Amino acid sequence: MSSPIQVAFLGHKGLIGSNLLSPLLKSHQEGKINLIILHRQGSDVSSPNISGLEKRVIQLDEEGLEINKEAMEGLEVVISSITSPAILSQTYFLEALKGSKTLKTFIHSDFGGNFTSEDLAHDGMALMALKPKVVARAVELGVPITNVRTGMFAEIVFGYNALGINVKENSFEVYKDNIKNQLRTTTLPYWAHALSQLILDPLKLANKTIQLYDHTPTGQEIIDTLSKIHGTPTKLTHYTTEQYEKDVLDPQSAIQASVKRAWGEDDFGEGEQPEVSGWVGKDLEELLRGYL
Ligand SMILES: NC(=O)c1ccc[n+]([C@@H]2O[C@H](COP(=O)([O-])OP(=O)(O)OC[C@H]3O[C@@H](n4cnc5c(N)ncnc54)[C@H](OP(=O)(O)O)[C@@H]3O)[C@@H](O)[C@H]2O)c1
Repeated sequence: MSSPIQVAFLGHKGLIGSNLLSPLLKSHQEGKINLIILHRQGSDVSSPNISGLEKRVIQLDEEGLEINKEAMEGLEVVISSITSPAILSQTYFLEALKGSKTLKTFIHSDFGGNFTSEDLAHDGMALMALKPKVVARAVELGVPITNVRTGMFAEIVFGYNALGINVKENSFEVYKDNIKNQLRTTTLPYWAHALSQLILDPLKLANKTIQLYDHTPTGQEIIDTLSKIHGTPTKLTHYTTEQYEKDVLDPQSAIQASVKRAWGEDDFGEGEQPEVSGWVGKDLEELLRGYL
């Protein structure tokens, strides 16, 4: 058997990253990867508490270069699911990875849509607009990097009534052609399964953009499924371009507004997905029933 791939992961306690921990630990315990948890000084690393699991401190600021270089020693894959407000601090990772003889790819904290430059130019998208800056810096420094794009996570779309879909109240917001267009959405377990599998062949990821989504219902399919689940017709409301123009200025609503636009205009961008084996997901009805 070949030696395990050296994989380091920052963000294991995060909203998104906590979902990736369990498939990574499984690969670690199966000897496919050697997982190393990265964390800043003072992070809660009381779990996972697995004997022999290495944890390394990083410091993503001007003073952290030597600490970070030591933490990057021997790594082949570095995954970051750092919080959006700290996106730009990932450039300190890049400085430490520059010239690495072992690194196959740095998977930066993207995990969002294929936003267009027009989307990213809106005031409310300022944090999202930092993600391409991290990629540009990686290119400058010659550090291999991977963009992992997703749909809006299903747990947010259906669990928090995002995009104007209210599963509990059986309502759906119409915008442009979203009734006939397909929405791209990604369940967190699928994302974690796919990513943990894809890193086993890291050279295939270097300097690539990959797309991970597991549900592509049209608006009509969502409406029909909600109507079936509730036994009553789904109430239709309407989103307006006037509201969209206000929403993109506000960081609280800009991402949702941008996804609504992409859905309504069928403008999600590149869509080719890598092959991911062994995933058994839920169908749309099962998925929506989970949010009643
Ligand atoms: N597609 C979607 O629907 C969707 C939805 C949500 C998020 N996202 C994306 O997913 C990514 C992760 O977001 P999230 O919501 O999971 O993040 P989060 O929970 O807010 O934070 C993730 C981790 O970042 C770490 N962190 C924060 N500042 C740090 C620093 N200066 N140095 C080192 N570590 C630091 C924190 O570690 P400790 O506090 O433990 O130290 C935290 O556990 C982002 O890129 C976000 O845009 C996508």
